[in-house]
Amino acid sequence: MTAHHEAIRHTIAGASVRHLAETFGTPLYVYDAEMIRRRCRDLAAWDTVRFAQKACSNLAVLNLVRQEGVVVDAVSTGEIQRALAAGYTPHASRESKADGLPPVHPIVYTADIFDRDSLDAVARLGIHVNCGSSDMIEQLAERVPGANITLRVNPGFGHGHSQKTNTGGEGSKHGIWHEEIPEVLRRAEWAGLAVSGLHMHIGSGTDLAHLAEVAGALERVAIEIGRSLTMISAGGGLPVPYKPGEEHADLSGYFTLWDATRKRLEDRFSHRIRLEIEPGRYLTAEAGFLVTEVRAIKHQGSRKYVLVDAGFNTLARPVLYGSYHPMSLAPATDMRAEPEEVAVGGPLCESGDIFTQADGGFVATRALPRAAVGDFLVIEIAGAYGFVMASNYNSKPLPAEILVDGGQPRLVRARQTPDDLIRGETV
Ligand code: LLP
Repeated sequence: MTAHHEAIRHTIAGASVRHLAETFGTPLYVYDAEMIRRRCRDLAAWDTVRFAQKACSNLAVLNLVRQEGVVVDAVSTGEIQRALAAGYTPHASRESKADGLPPVHPIVYTADIFDRDSLDAVARLGIHVNCGSSDMIEQLAERVPGANITLRVNPGFGHGHSQKTNTGGEGSKHGIWHEEIPEVLRRAEWAGLAVSGLHMHIGSGTDLAHLAEVAGALERVAIEIGRSLTMISAGGGLPVPYKPGEEHADLSGYFTLWDATRKRLEDRFSHRIRLEIEPGRYLTAEAGFLVTEVRAIKHQGSRKYVLVDAGFNTLARPVLYGSYHPMSLAPATDMRAEPEEVAVGGPLCESGDIFTQADGGFVATRALPRAAVGDFLVIEIAGAYGFVMASNYNSKPLPAEILVDGGQPRLVRARQTPDDLIRGETV
């Protein structure tokens, strides 16, 4: 299925864009609950789908994926707190399942360091840890003697939609270097920790050809670790189509590859192995829409700019990575001429505050239906790494978030107020 082109859009998940904007104000993040459910169900073949909540960690979204049987990853104390507030329990129940698979950890802390508060939190709550640096082993052992851990291994290669989202190879700080496994296993044994799982995540927004290479690398490391392994994780990185003409990836082929890897390891170790996948973007990107209002239209020489009330404080991906997001217009009136090439920017006092930019910061243009002040411009596929990367730059409040389910919008995070912006400060 190929996706989206720049167009007119009057509704999001059955709710009127105009009504949403007028009721809740703009800029506004709107999520389509049914789309998130559909994306969870696409991955039903995997034993465990673990949502990388960094992509979209609103409590209502976490609760929604929890109801779909999806568990979570947490990279900070704050994300652990979110998972608990959304109804996840800190650790697995001990009962063994008829399928012979080990219990699922509802929350896993995956990081390259423990800051002091996250070490306190995992120790106090009994949260499972996926170690991305070997120093974490002794730090955890001191607080939780005899814990089971997972190792996040950097296989020596990686790939992402941008160099900034490539998390493998020498250019990445992430994971335990693959050649250090024997040494790390000695350290774990010395510290009295058992290595029960192996995880690799080589990057975000890559393609399946690159992701597929991970299965072979993981299998080699799994054999080095040996029979203590009961879980392997393929990590995240599943792509979604952002640009016109891009397609959804072949998920069943990808699962088959990983399932075969898992089965070979099961045969070798003579016990069951749980197979996890850890998507962030895949579950929420397409479900998210950033609704903005057109506030000014101007010509700078030959170039036309449409300026909206959201900026890179609201959606940072274009300025950070040159990311492409489809856009559509909810016009105030039906009178529309042919599409025209425009640059779309925001309110910030910074030239980089442009949504239509290429990697390297070059201002690009987009063919959009002719916009007028008061129209609403919807920036699409904004549900992953959208709100969660928003900031208060230029003392702008964080936007509100809405979940639309069955055509009904519900406010799931209130817009920040001016008071929120100065809370905790003193003169
Ligand atoms: N697992 C680990 C250990 C990760 O570090 C990440 C993403 C994921 C899973 C989920 O990756 P996904 O399935 O979403 O590709 N801000 C960037 C993406 C940064 C990804 C960081 N780690 C962006 O807007 O594209």
